[in-house]
Amino acid sequence: MNDKINVLISEEEIAKRISEMAEEITKDTGDEPIVLIGILKGSIMLMADLARKLKQDVKIDFMDISSYGDSDTSSGEIKINKDLEYAIEGENVIIIEDIVDTGTTMSYLLDHLREKKPASLKLCTLLDKPENRRFDVKCDYIGFEIPNKFVVGYGLDYAQKYRNLPYIGCVDTTEK
Ligand code: IMP
Ligand code: MG
Repeated sequence: MNDKINVLISEEEIAKRISEMAEEITKDTGDEPIVLIGILKGSIMLMADLARKLKQDVKIDFMDISSYGDSDTSSGEIKINKDLEYAIEGENVIIIEDIVDTGTTMSYLLDHLREKKPASLKLCTLLDKPENRRFDVKCDYIGFEIPNKFVVGYGLDYAQKYRNLPYIGCVDTTEK
């Protein structure tokens, strides 16, 4: 790890906000069972911390997806590298995502999962970068809105590095 990372959101701020997000989810879902679908790999930390704050029956599943080609030209179609293990028809589903940037990935995924006829489908993202949005995506639960900067840590990577940082930071490109 030789890049300098400037802390944007501390470990303590993340923990506090995740408790609040869990309360928001509980307020909306009560004691209904829910299915959390984590999008690999960026969502793993949020999934682990948020799921442990929820008191109702929680099923956990994961998908691994990637955008086709370049998001400047792509139609928003995504490639599914690992699909759901369980059917979600009739279930109350919440997607757990690390960050919504252009909205390409979540816009496609929401349409794709809606076809599987869940009873409800919501999106929970740790980070929202609305300045870069190209597709209109409704984020039901947002941890933090951040400026249009590339961030790492708490699951998010830069070339597969930094996912294990306990905080969210920006890679300082001015330092060598
Ligand atoms: P979107 O399809 O443009 O909304 O991109 C969403 C995906 O791009 C996220 O799930 C991340 O994997 C990745 N991404 C977007 N911004 C960042 C960032 O600042 N740091 C790390 N990954 C990012
Ligand atoms: Mg992602």
